[in-house]
Amino acid sequence: MRLRCYSFHSVKGGVGKSTLATACALALAERDGEPVVLIDMDLTGTSLGDVLKLEAPRWNAEHPVLKALEGPSDGFSSHEETMERVRLRQDEELRGVGAPPYLNDFLLFPAPERVDIEDADPVGLLWRLQRGPEALRIIPSSALPRDVEAIVSVVYDEERTAFLQQRLEYLMEALLLLYRDEPSLTLVFDTPPSIPGLSRAVLSLALRLGAQGDKRPIVPRRALPYELDNAEVRWIACLVATLDRQDRGTV
Ligand SMILES: Nc1ncnc2c1ncn2[C@@H]1O[C@H](COP(=O)(O)OP(=O)(O)OP(=O)(O)O)[C@@H](O)[C@H]1O
Ligand SMILES: [Mg+2]
Repeated sequence: MRLRCYSFHSVKGGVGKSTLATACALALAERDGEPVVLIDMDLTGTSLGDVLKLEAPRWNAEHPVLKALEGPSDGFSSHEETMERVRLRQDEELRGVGAPPYLNDFLLFPAPERVDIEDADPVGLLWRLQRGPEALRIIPSSALPRDVEAIVSVVYDEERTAFLQQRLEYLMEALLLLYRDEPSLTLVFDTPPSIPGLSRAVLSLALRLGAQGDKRPIVPRRALPYELDNAEVRWIACLVATLDRQDRGTV
């Protein structure tokens, strides 16, 4: 299977990464009709869910958040219902009940207190864009203060970068399995500004997986997930830079 990946990085904030990532995902989904998943790796900033009209996967309302990762049971909520559900996630009392799942839940899923639960099925994370192409799915991150607080310590701890990369590898593996009957799968990664942390984790994946015929696992001699190892990966990592108005005349 062909796996095409695009990732957008920048040193400075607000240079248009999210705009480019979204436009790229949308254009590819409309052009080819083959599955495209836009992955919002900006777990420390604005969520794509805050700027795009998204529709969350729907599932039996009584389940707590992590149960949602077992997979949607009933299509998608409308955008308005989705916004209501996001408010449920914010509410301390109602935490989990009816709230939509985010990339955060998947990345932090195997926290020690949860090892007894089987790993999450990423199909439950796939949101869609209101009136967007059917080939496009989006995995948003949560910008709710409690979610950002929970993820920040993981993101900026360099010792956890291997953990994050392995979670991303597993996410990619699960998406490859989900779309295995398709000729190709495209993943578009939006990343936060500055290179350390999440952007670095994505760049490291690009370097390890994008070298055709010479993919490298994160730990030597440890195997890559099977589908990922066998996929023909092409990765284009874009460093986005825009001229700052204040720099005019000096650059
Ligand atoms: N080519 C462009 N021309 C003019 N404005 C743009 C362009 N691309 C993006 N913008 C605007 O610049 C602002 C920042 O864009 P965007 O959110 O895509 O940047 P970002 O790099 O993702 O930011 P962050 O680092 O905060 O995640 C937005 O208001 C967006 O509409
Ligand atoms: Mg952005």
